[in-house]
Amino acid sequence: MATERIDRIISSCTEYSRREVKRLVKSGAVSLDGSAVRSCETKADPDTAEITVNGKRLHYRRFVYIMLNKPAGVVSSTDEKGLTTVLDLVDDEARRRGVFPAGRLDRDTTGFVLLTDDGAFAHDILSPVKHVEKTYLVTAERPLTEAELAELRAGIELDGERLLPCSAELRAEGPPPVYELRIRQGKYHQIKRTFLHFGNCVLALRRTAMGSLPLDPALGEGAWRELTAEEVEMIKF
Ligand code: URA
Repeated sequence: MATERIDRIISSCTEYSRREVKRLVKSGAVSLDGSAVRSCETKADPDTAEITVNGKRLHYRRFVYIMLNKPAGVVSSTDEKGLTTVLDLVDDEARRRGVFPAGRLDRDTTGFVLLTDDGAFAHDILSPVKHVEKTYLVTAERPLTEAELAELRAGIELDGERLLPCSAELRAEGPPPVYELRIRQGKYHQIKRTFLHFGNCVLALRRTAMGSLPLDPALGEGAWRELTAEEVEMIKF
């Protein structure tokens, strides 16, 4: 794996600024694989090196992946004046690392938002060619007919383009009825517009899974946690 400057590694996974790291290095508080580091220009492989600061071992992660249970009213974009954004719900460390939402939910949509600083991973899971399914529970104003369901599954035409086929199942008869949809695209207001296409209306929308990873039921509204490496893999399949 590639090596990086030690001051950059330390400031990426601690609260220390580069300037503070410089001071720590000068004072002999930083060690690399058991030896004191004398220069900030020292390079190390952050995945394998043992780096300590004041005797404490650094917990380095190249990227972070956060599962957030988004409440209604919170926006998925990263800066929206006067509104609470998903970034307001995570901690300073995540914000400092520059995490961003991998795919957006509407302001009134609730559920699973993935935040990460891994741009390539975000790109992969959003790309329709990668086939990562996103699962939603859709509370509708009225039931869909069998013909409408069949048309929805086959992919309706939106903006002059046919949507990819998706799966759609009735999960609760209601009223109001609740459908589970698994889609591989993320077009603007895709599900709401799909239901509008049938003259129906989405009353509530919740994302419950990405890939084969379900939203952790232990996460209350607005709560978040980091994903394990196994969970990150589950998103892809
Ligand atoms: N489809 C929508 O219409 N809204 C969302 O937030 C997600 C999918």
